[in-house]
Amino acid sequence: MIVVPVALDPPYEVRIGAGARRELARVVASLGEVRQAAVVTQGALVDAGWLEGLDPKVPFDVHLLGDGEAAKSLASVEALCRSFARDGLSRADVVVAVGGGVVSDVAGFAAASYHRGTRYVNVATSLLAQVDAAIGGKTGVNLPEGKNLVGAFWQPSGVLCDTETLSSLPEREWRCGRGEMAKYAFLGGADPDASLLALDVEEQVGRCVRIKAEVVAADETESGERMSLNYGHTLAHALEAEGLADAGAGALAHGEAVAVGLVFAALLARRLGRIDDERVALHRRVVAGFGLSAELPAGADPDRLVAAMGRDKKARHDLAFVLDGPDGVELVRGVAPEAVLATLAEMGPRP
Ligand SMILES: NC(=O)c1ccc[n+]([C@@H]2O[C@H](COP(=O)([O-])OP(=O)(O)OC[C@H]3O[C@@H](n4cnc5c(N)ncnc54)[C@H](O)[C@@H]3O)[C@@H](O)[C@H]2O)c1
Ligand SMILES: [Zn+2]
Repeated sequence: MIVVPVALDPPYEVRIGAGARRELARVVASLGEVRQAAVVTQGALVDAGWLEGLDPKVPFDVHLLGDGEAAKSLASVEALCRSFARDGLSRADVVVAVGGGVVSDVAGFAAASYHRGTRYVNVATSLLAQVDAAIGGKTGVNLPEGKNLVGAFWQPSGVLCDTETLSSLPEREWRCGRGEMAKYAFLGGADPDASLLALDVEEQVGRCVRIKAEVVAADETESGERMSLNYGHTLAHALEAEGLADAGAGALAHGEAVAVGLVFAALLARRLGRIDDERVALHRRVVAGFGLSAELPAGADPDRLVAAMGRDKKARHDLAFVLDGPDGVELVRGVAPEAVLATLAEMGPRP
């Protein structure tokens, strides 16, 4: 078992390994007088049998969430909080989120709101949740007007990344997780390499979690350094906004869009004189090594993408990107639209 501390106040641990979900009782016991638990999960996790052997050693009720982004709604939070109340869950009790990022985002936000703050534990079952979503306390839901518009910073009391559960993860979800993992190859310091690729999955998750834990501990509420976790995401979000990602069968999934975004960010950084050819090649090697494509999807319109990137939350009436450079990955403001357009032209779009 790999154990990564997250040095916040109070601190908590991320435990990574096969069977990590069986440590739930120990995490719950460490919280003091917990009388009952509310387990929040989805049908796919129940069907795969992952609730068997998941025992908080206190009485618990199971609450099922719907699937996908549609389930990340205020209606889900209301339904959860109402059933917590009907079950008599108190502020001293605990919410246990068992699933991917959708479950931890919604259950975490319900926990943040219920009784103005009830503790929660994440049992992360998707690769993306294990390396990213379950750690760091960003919780929230979508509005029809946009993704993740309502939420709270509310840290979990513990995170269990059970690599055994990945055996039932659909292939597309693996790809998504790998896209997110690829970004961590460049966040570990000023001297990135491709060694992440060669590790087994438990060690890969461990390395990513260590990086995420460090970034979160340095900047809990995303005022500065935590922006680096958005590496590769500016173009990815623009592709999503343009309906070229996350929009159905032919579209890129989020992590796949991040993979394209990483190579784009590398090409842009080279154009701005921040990195050399070798470093661009390293980006391509890592993305390809994770089995992902770096090609812009057909139909990508450069002008529309630039406009969408100008609406990114990092941008302040300009174009801002997280870019690699001599000191590693950092936020760069005031990037000229011409440089961005030229970089997009360099990538495609493919006919
Ligand atoms: N809070 C954060 O810091 C943060 C960071 C990154 C992403 N996110 C959010 O996370 C969400 C995406 O998370 P995700 O990629 O885990 O998607 P997800 O939670 O929708 O899970 C993907 C699918 O896989 C299923 N699944 C999960 N684990 C499984 C398993 N072990 N076996 C079989 N099926 C399984 C789920 O039921 C779902 O159908 C997005 O909403 C995103 O905004 C949050
Ligand atoms: Zn992401």
